[in-house]
Amino acid sequence: MNTKSIHTSNDLNQKTRRAMIDLLNQQLADALDLGLQAKQAHWNVKGPHFIGLHELFDKVAEDLEESIDNIAERAVQLGGIALGTIQVVSKNSRLSAYPLDVLSGNEHVARLAASLAEFAATTRAAIDTAGKSGDADTAELITEISRGVDKLLWMVEAHSQSKE
Ligand SMILES: [Fe+2]
Repeated sequence: MNTKSIHTSNDLNQKTRRAMIDLLNQQLADALDLGLQAKQAHWNVKGPHFIGLHELFDKVAEDLEESIDNIAERAVQLGGIALGTIQVVSKNSRLSAYPLDVLSGNEHVARLAASLAEFAATTRAAIDTAGKSGDADTAELITEISRGVDKLLWMVEAHSQSKE
């Protein structure tokens, strides 16, 4: 995923910046994929809980948009190129592919919760990677994103946690 570095006066050493740019671009690909998966659910969901789920899935996409922007811009601040085109995302995302034949609310809840959980796990791991690389700011940024994704997972998963 290496791209050329752009000169910056940022005082973090180059090795750390290089590692963080790669880490951030990996998270960016996953987050962009996840955002589109949430939109896929938002557009296609059907069933008795339509309006609640339709709006919730849009909130997921909207919340992710802010994280996506922060991840991409941090990569650029460190002298990198943000890799946000659909072609790169399609190649680099580690998320499971979202099925195209899902319609019911329950199925969308299960599928989107699974993807949110995948992203939550890699995000949590990325906090450690950033911390160990000596970039406390990236670690903190990713920590904030991690907390937000845990919250989104809760909001989606709660629909499947009742026996009713
Ligand atoms: Fe919409």
